[in-house]
Amino acid sequence: MSNKIRAACAIGWPIKHSRSPLIHGHWIEKHGIAGDYRLEGVTPEDFPNFIANLAGHGYVGCNITIPHKEVALKLSEPDERARAIGAANTLWLDGDRLRSTNTDVVGFIGNLDVSAPGWDKDLENAIVLGAGGAARAVVYGFIERGVKNIHVVNRTISKAEAFRQHFGDSVHPASWDDLPRLLGDAGMLANTTSLGMADNPDLVVDLDLVGDDTVVADAVYVPLKTSLLTAAEGRGLRIADGLGMLLHQATRPFEFWWGLRPEVTPELRALVERELLAG
Ligand code: ATR
Repeated sequence: MSNKIRAACAIGWPIKHSRSPLIHGHWIEKHGIAGDYRLEGVTPEDFPNFIANLAGHGYVGCNITIPHKEVALKLSEPDERARAIGAANTLWLDGDRLRSTNTDVVGFIGNLDVSAPGWDKDLENAIVLGAGGAARAVVYGFIERGVKNIHVVNRTISKAEAFRQHFGDSVHPASWDDLPRLLGDAGMLANTTSLGMADNPDLVVDLDLVGDDTVVADAVYVPLKTSLLTAAEGRGLRIADGLGMLLHQATRPFEFWWGLRPEVTPELRALVERELLAG
C-alpha cells in the first residue's frame, strides 16, 4: 500500500495567491481526512500531461484556474454545466475516468439559497451586470431555476448578444444606459463585473429605482462588503455576498474528492474573513 498522502490541488499559471488551501485545509482537518490541498503552478505547455497523470502526482482531483479552464474542459469528461459554461474548474478521478464540472453555478445559487431563501419564487426579471466567465455561470444558474427574463447588461454589447445566442431567448442583451429602465421590474440584481473590486472603479447603481423585495448579489469579495451591498443593506434589501459564493463553490469539489459534503459555517467564514482583512 502506498504511504503517500492523497491530495487535491489548484492548478494555474502563474498560480496566484489563493484562499482555497485555507478553505479545504479547514474541512480536511475538521473531518479528520488523511489528505492535503496544494497549489501547483503548471505551464500551458505542461498542463495536458500533468492532468493526464493526476494520480501519478498523488492527486485525487483538482481545481483549475486561469488560464487552463477551457483546455481542462476539452481534456476531461465534462458534465452538462461545465459544457454549457464552456469552462471546467473542478476535475476528479472516477476510476480511470477524468471527469469535470463547473462549480461556479453551485457557488452562486447555493449562496443565494442560504442568504435570501425563496429568491427565485415567481422571479420574472433578473439583471446580470457583466458578460464574462462569472456571468456565464450566473446566467446558467438562473435558467436552471426557471427565471423568465435575464437582462445581461454589459459595456461590450456584442458579448451580451453572444449570451443570447448561446443560452437562448430568455436572455436579453442590454447596455448600461438601459439599466435605470430595467431596475424597476427586477427582482434580482447580480454584479459579476470587476466594478467595485479593490483598485477598480466603483459600481454606481441607483437602488432607489428597485422594488423593496429585490435581492442584490455581488460576486466581488475584496472588499468583503462592496459599496453596492452597503447601499442595498441601507435600502433594506436582502443581499448575497461574494465571499459566500466563494465558500459555497468549494463544497462540491470537496465532495467529489473526499466523499462527503462539507458545510459553510460561520467559523469558516470568520477564518477566511480574517485572512482577507489581513491582505
Ligand atoms: P470574470 O471571469 O471574472 O467574469 P471577465 O471574463 O474578464 O472576468 O469579465 C469581466 C466583466 O467585467 C466583463 O463583463 C467586463 O465588461 P466588458 O465585457 O465590456 O469588458 C466587465 N468590466 C470590467 N471593467 C469594467 C468597466 N470599467 N466598466 C464596465 N464593465 C467592466
